[in-house]
Amino acid sequence: MSKFNGYDSLARVYRLIEFLAFGRALECARFHHFARLRDRRHILLLGDGDGRGLALACRLAPRARITSLDSSPGMIARARRRLDPADHGRVTFVCADALGTDFPTATYDAVTTLFFLDCFSTEQTHSLVGRLQPSLTPDALWLHADFTLPPRGPARLRARAWLTLMFAFFRWQTGLAVRALPPSEELLQAAGFHRLAGSSWQGGFIRSVVFSPNQSVT
Ligand SMILES: C[S@@+](CC[C@H](N)C(=O)[O-])C[C@H]1O[C@@H](n2cnc3c(N)ncnc32)[C@H](O)[C@@H]1O
Repeated sequence: MSKFNGYDSLARVYRLIEFLAFGRALECARFHHFARLRDRRHILLLGDGDGRGLALACRLAPRARITSLDSSPGMIARARRRLDPADHGRVTFVCADALGTDFPTATYDAVTTLFFLDCFSTEQTHSLVGRLQPSLTPDALWLHADFTLPPRGPARLRARAWLTLMFAFFRWQTGLAVRALPPSEELLQAAGFHRLAGSSWQGGFIRSVVFSPNQSVT
């Protein structure tokens, strides 16, 4: 089995690679529901990457404390550089493996997993969802974006080809061991989260979904 080396080697070029492969589709999916963060007070950005999500979360949620967690020091360095100096006091960077992190109880009223859960197997995703659940407040929002396999047709064939290519690329560059997407949305729903809103791009290949433990939260 290959050793996971992390995303440092991709930190500088990640945005360019994403744009060359998918144009603006990932950016659209990533931020499609971000306006919902406006009144949130404590936001956890998991696998935050190069800090584009962090910068927008800071602008949209001016009163929030924000924890940005990523296992790649290179990604965190880029996120730190992107941050407005005025926001330094309310942002905490955590360089850690999300799978081994203890999250504080009933703390976050929003969490984001943007093109992040596809780094994990079904078992790992299930475990992560279970460990995060107690750290969320009852009205918390979970903003999730990721690739999914469309149910049928040419879109499914195209998605399969892209996923094979992407998993091979990330295995080569980072040592990522997984070879298939976890059923993240199903795992969240099975854990008791309600799907409040969802949008798709590229025939259902790219998804952006909002979940919450509370069905009536807006
Ligand atoms: C595909 S990138 C997505 C980054 C960002 N969320 C975005 O939308 O651009 C996945 C990110 O998750 C981080 N990551 C991967 N496995 C991780 C883990 N076990 N714990 C914490 N971060 C991890 C990587 O370093 C990388 O920054």
